Amino acid sequence: MQNILQDARKKGESIGLVPTMGALHKGHASLVRRSVEENNVTVVSIFLNPTQFNDKSDLEKYPRTLDADCRLLEECGAQLAFAPSVEEIYPEPDKRQFSYPPTDTVMEGAFRPGHFNGVCQIVSKLFDYVKPDRAYFGEKDYQQIAVIRRMVDDLGFDLEIVPCPVVREESGLAMSSRNTLLTEEERKLAANIYRVIKDSRSLNASVVDTHDYVVRTLDAIPGLKVQYYSIVDGDTLADVESWDDAESIVGCITVFCGQIPIRLIDHIRYK
Ligand code: PAF
Repeated sequence: MQNILQDARKKGESIGLVPTMGALHKGHASLVRRSVEENNVTVVSIFLNPTQFNDKSDLEKYPRTLDADCRLLEECGAQLAFAPSVEEIYPEPDKRQFSYPPTDTVMEGAFRPGHFNGVCQIVSKLFDYVKPDRAYFGEKDYQQIAVIRRMVDDLGFDLEIVPCPVVREESGLAMSSRNTLLTEEERKLAANIYRVIKDSRSLNASVVDTHDYVVRTLDAIPGLKVQYYSIVDGDTLADVESWDDAESIVGCITVFCGQIPIRLIDHIRYK
């Protein structure tokens, strides 16, 4: 892969990277298509990164669909799928520590200790291997983009982070590889997450009351359990107390859905 990319770079061609963990869906396809449009060469990495899973059972049940993934990438016009083994990426345990508080300590950072450290470990390695001009990330993982931006500034990577809008099912449910683990019935339940956070925008209530409305309404639906709902500054991810506290304000949610249960995340922009 590095030889091919070196040749491309010598010819003055631009390189786009779309990091993924596989089990690709329309959301990923939209990132790949955007990279294909904006770059001469698009590399899609498919690597189920063990260091970002603090819960090993979550890693075990994560869907693996490499052949179908490669077919989708061909349809989208990507030139390279980079699907290394765990041993190739981590011949030795990665001992590096990344720390970008509060961005990586709140919300997902608080409930999944070590998660963002693992994300920074793999993404920094991918940036080193691929040396992309642009890297594409889905805004569904809103906090992840904020953490990666901090890492890019910290380590001085010379590349552009391109955030791409959430792709939703017709029901409003944010597309996610984890959705394949839901039954039809659970998918319908999960669609309430976006409906409720979207409705909360028209309440004209205080931050606290808006927060409480979302948690109360979703928790009242059997089969759903909110893990957290945080209304935060859209840049720093620090909590806000009033709508005037920041220029951009986002609500980030994690909900457990169904029997197993499956952990789903989403977010909504208030301003
Ligand atoms: O968003 C993901 O799928 C993963 O966190 C990423 C960025 C591919 C790193 O493993």
